[in-house]
Amino acid sequence: MSAEGMNTEFLTADTAGIARAATLLRAGALVSFPTETVYGLGADATNDHAVARIFEAKGRPHFNPLIVHVPSLEAVLDIAEMDGAAQDLAQAFWPGPLTLVLPIRSGGPLSALVSAGLPTVAVRVPAHPLATKLLTAAGVPVAAPSANPSGRISPSTAQHVLDGLSGRIEAVLDGGPCEVGLESTIVGFDPAPVLLRPGGLPVEAIEAALGGPIATRQTSAGITAPGQLSSHYAPDAALRLNAEAAQGDERLLGFGHVEADLNLSPSGDLVEAAANLFRFLHQLDAQGDAPIAVSPIPDHGMGRAINDRLRRAAAPRD
Ligand code: TXA
Ligand code: MG
Repeated sequence: MSAEGMNTEFLTADTAGIARAATLLRAGALVSFPTETVYGLGADATNDHAVARIFEAKGRPHFNPLIVHVPSLEAVLDIAEMDGAAQDLAQAFWPGPLTLVLPIRSGGPLSALVSAGLPTVAVRVPAHPLATKLLTAAGVPVAAPSANPSGRISPSTAQHVLDGLSGRIEAVLDGGPCEVGLESTIVGFDPAPVLLRPGGLPVEAIEAALGGPIATRQTSAGITAPGQLSSHYAPDAALRLNAEAAQGDERLLGFGHVEADLNLSPSGDLVEAAANLFRFLHQLDAQGDAPIAVSPIPDHGMGRAINDRLRRAAAPRD
């Protein structure tokens, strides 16, 4: 299979489409599929060659660790070990937009490329009926980063996936727009729980389940991964954050009661804003490269993940 110029199959969300996607995954192909957060670029996590092709298709400069997707908590135990706090979070939030970084089960089936040689693996049980059906039909753990070229905005529709990766992957399974619209929240264990990336599950919900505050690990400590690079998630246009109004030729990406070119949520609903964020950034990107001004976003609930992604999108590019 060559990396470029292949015909990317567009699969519909029916029995035949799911069966085809599962067959392709088992054969070592790259299949993009919807989750409740964003579209993933899936490959059989037990197949070294298939996993390596993920990095090639995305143009990822390094072999950074990937999130492994499985259909159930039972399937997690085949690949990773879970202790008390991890089990509590899994019980509370799976299936859902939460990724747990867990010790790899020794003698398990995962390709070492999935975890970039680390002794831990990031695991998630997604809450999207199509993802659940596909993962069950595939019968293998599926490694999947977001299905965008490295450094670009994550895809929340099948069309976004094709815009970025058509000709580089075997198929995309169309499940419509993603409900959450932002990547999962990532929690590791130190051994106490540590927030590694804010995301689709609000930190407040995790702290409520844990019965106390969770520590946050910043970019300087621990592993370096693409979600932690400052200039990740970038559109072509420059971004100016916390803008009360557009200036000059800027376009305003609004929030709340402001007049804007696009408004993430006119009523000020952070969940709605998260679901719209990547789609609107893709849309503004397609409309030209005049700079984008963004309204202030409250920094609680889903707002924390939105602000995290906006800061990265606005960071200096290298
Ligand atoms: O919502 C999501 O999480 C989406 C969907 C497709 O599930 N996936 C996603 O994957 O965002 P990706 O590759 O874009 O982000 C994976 C992040 C890496 O940036 C890294 O920070 C973290 O997961 N990660 C993976 N393995 C890790 C490990 N062993 N230790 C620490 N962090 C890890
Ligand atoms: Mg990503």
